[in-house]
Amino acid sequence: MSDPRAALRTEDRRLDTIMKKGLGSRYRVRYYDAFSRVYDRFVAAHSSDREGRLRETLAERSGLLPDARALDLCTGTGAMLPSLLRRTGTRGLVVGLDFSRGMLGQARRRLGGRPGVALVRAEAERLPFRAGCFDAVTCSHAFYELKGDGAERALAEVRRTLRPGGSFLMMEHEVPTRPLVRLLFYVRLLSMGLRKAREVLGNEEALFRRHFQAVERVATDTGRSKIIVGSAPRGPSAVA
Ligand SMILES: C[S@@+](CC[C@H](N)C(=O)[O-])C[C@H]1O[C@@H](n2cnc3c(N)ncnc32)[C@H](O)[C@@H]1O
Repeated sequence: MSDPRAALRTEDRRLDTIMKKGLGSRYRVRYYDAFSRVYDRFVAAHSSDREGRLRETLAERSGLLPDARALDLCTGTGAMLPSLLRRTGTRGLVVGLDFSRGMLGQARRRLGGRPGVALVRAEAERLPFRAGCFDAVTCSHAFYELKGDGAERALAEVRRTLRPGGSFLMMEHEVPTRPLVRLLFYVRLLSMGLRKAREVLGNEEALFRRHFQAVERVATDTGRSKIIVGSAPRGPSAVA
């Protein structure tokens, strides 16, 4: 049987090699490494959800039970992890995944060695986990940062690693009303590439329906973020 820790070490080395070779990836990861130093302060200053109610809503919608296994994709400084951990408890497992060492370092500080959680450095487009191993996957305010066909590949990987009937819950910003913030929003969205940005804004649910069933959009209290939920198929039945 293969050793999961050895597999993760291999993934870590593979990422280092990619960083050395690929200018694009290296630049992106360095950007997030640098951002990690101020990320939490930046969010605290600009978010309309200072108490983290949205993350609680996301965790609540996941339906996670004690001893369940959850993955938080692109976890950043791990702000989503405490809400998930409150549901899975010490018998379950919450994995926070990100490709930035800087972000994961902040997440480690936040969690302070709490049991029931693991931090993994890997790419969202290539998850180092076996098929069907998670009960739920969350992704908060990171989906619009998956470049090019990254969003599509990440969705396929989420579907592969979810157990049949498991949920994927994505939270993202609605189009802001204030002009400057709206401009920044579009710049961020355009990092996906023009075609994907158009597709995402035009009909996000259709993109999700290619991978998941029972796709629905959930309204949030602040009205500034949206949550899209989908389930992994229960059988070999085709998704749209
Ligand atoms: C805006 S932050 C969001 C962090 C966190 N989910 C939150 O809600 O605060 C985006 C995160 O996605 C990570 N990220 C972006 N592209 C990624 C990829 N392809 N694979 C893994 N992580 C990625 C970045 O390193 C960063 O930590």
